[in-house]
Amino acid sequence: MRSGDQDRPGEPAERRGTSGADRRERRSLADARPAIESAGTVDVEVERLVQGGVGLAFWKRFPLLVEGAAPQEKVRVEVVESRPDYARVRVVEVLRAGADRVAAPCVYYAECGGCDLQHIRRERQLPLKAQAALETLHRIGKLRDLPEPRLVSGQSSAYRSRAQLHTERQEPEAPPSVESPATPTEPADATGSRPPKVGFRTRGGHEVVDVEHCLVLDETLQQALGEVRSAVRRRWEEVQRSHREGDTRQSVPQRIDLLAGDGGRWVAAPLLPALPRGDVEISYRVGGRDYRLACDAHCFFQSNRGLAASLVEAALESIGPSTAPGDRDGDRDAGADGGLQLAWDLYAGVGLFTLPLSDRVRHVVAVEGDRAALRHLRRNVRRRAGRVEAVGRDVESFLRQAVGAVRRGEQQQPQLVVLDPPRSGVSKGAMRSLLHLTPPQLRYVSCDPATLARDLARLDRDYRVERLVFVDLFPHTSHLECVAALRRREGGGEGGSDGAGADG
Ligand SMILES: C[S@@+](CC[C@H](N)C(=O)[O-])C[C@H]1O[C@@H](n2cnc3c(N)ncnc32)[C@H](O)[C@@H]1O
Repeated sequence: MRSGDQDRPGEPAERRGTSGADRRERRSLADARPAIESAGTVDVEVERLVQGGVGLAFWKRFPLLVEGAAPQEKVRVEVVESRPDYARVRVVEVLRAGADRVAAPCVYYAECGGCDLQHIRRERQLPLKAQAALETLHRIGKLRDLPEPRLVSGQSSAYRSRAQLHTERQEPEAPPSVESPATPTEPADATGSRPPKVGFRTRGGHEVVDVEHCLVLDETLQQALGEVRSAVRRRWEEVQRSHREGDTRQSVPQRIDLLAGDGGRWVAAPLLPALPRGDVEISYRVGGRDYRLACDAHCFFQSNRGLAASLVEAALESIGPSTAPGDRDGDRDAGADGGLQLAWDLYAGVGLFTLPLSDRVRHVVAVEGDRAALRHLRRNVRRRAGRVEAVGRDVESFLRQAVGAVRRGEQQQPQLVVLDPPRSGVSKGAMRSLLHLTPPQLRYVSCDPATLARDLARLDRDYRVERLVFVDLFPHTSHLECVAALRRREGGGEGGSDGAGADG
């Protein structure tokens, strides 16, 4: 796969050089920007898909990020937003469709912000996303010797087992005029008010698209959507009533989080009367073993339950030996007694990685900063007391303290650290501690190739990326989950030693 060209137009200004040619290049871009703003629409050829699921095109050498484009097609576009060195534009007409373009399967696709790649053939989405992610790793991280990524995918629709629904108040209906008789989608009450919209945010906006069916919600959440719509409507009627009676404190929640679990059970947060609350159980199978977690709708859980196990397999591959039957193949990273002694699972959530990790490593320390997730994590690891320690702290302060303790010989050096940070990646402070420690192996699970690229660049002096796996947790969207397996470079690292135990 091709790496990004560092010097092409479109690279942020601060990355470009200061030569005469660079200055001329900048002047010509500066001239092109007002021209495209006033042009109305322009016709461009889309080169390829880049990070964020947008097409890359150039107009008079000015870079355009084209929403709703497929590679190798000619489109007419209009400006959505213009910046000094690029503009975001959207397709208003496809003049020559690319080979990857299809009609979007969902009726809400034109406005709903939930999906952004439905106009691209399903089987081409993952290779195109992978290419864009790799390009980001090369361009931002400037990483040498990256391995070819392995691609993992699952079912492309009815996969989503966690979702955020939004509600939006609808303006009272205007009285119908003779010229334009009204055709409301929802019947209005006597005051002309209509129940709130319930659905997903519009693409790039804060309005809500009223959604009755969603292509990507799994069967359980699809049914939940109907129940939430009815509950919101009932709540709205109560609120209307109490407002009429002078009590204006009541309101309809603006956001409702849903989580599906085993056996068709689902839960919602915040609570609306009649909507289920509490925990669901989520079962998954890794390396021939079954695991079960309790989780509620307030906590983070991977949105694609069907592929969560594949994500864990990708992250824990080659860690062992697993105690699973038939899985003692010796082709694993054995410590002194045939297995790793200590691993840290940082950003552990409710324990998705923690449980399988604790079957492969003698002792696991799982660190989670969110109180609700920590409560569940503690409960989920209770039966592994002695082998798993759940620590309720932010990763930054845990690492700061632990690095000191390892240095003083009061604590063991972990042989493996699993990192699964939020979209923003590993903070500077946490990274600094990690680089002091330089454990022999890292597994980095990321939902954002840009912050992954930044963090891999920070780690590059001490670590080599041995394996890359891209898991398509979010078909029909530009999102991609990346797993990077890193090993400390020979002679690299300032921190601890490699052997089992390390002993500070
Ligand atoms: C992307 S989720 C991963 C959770 C888990 N590994 C999983 O796959 O289900 C990130 C988790 O890190 C937690 N978190 C975010 N920032 C943190 C920090 N600075 N310190 C500790 N935990 C943090 C969040 O509460 C969330 O549970």
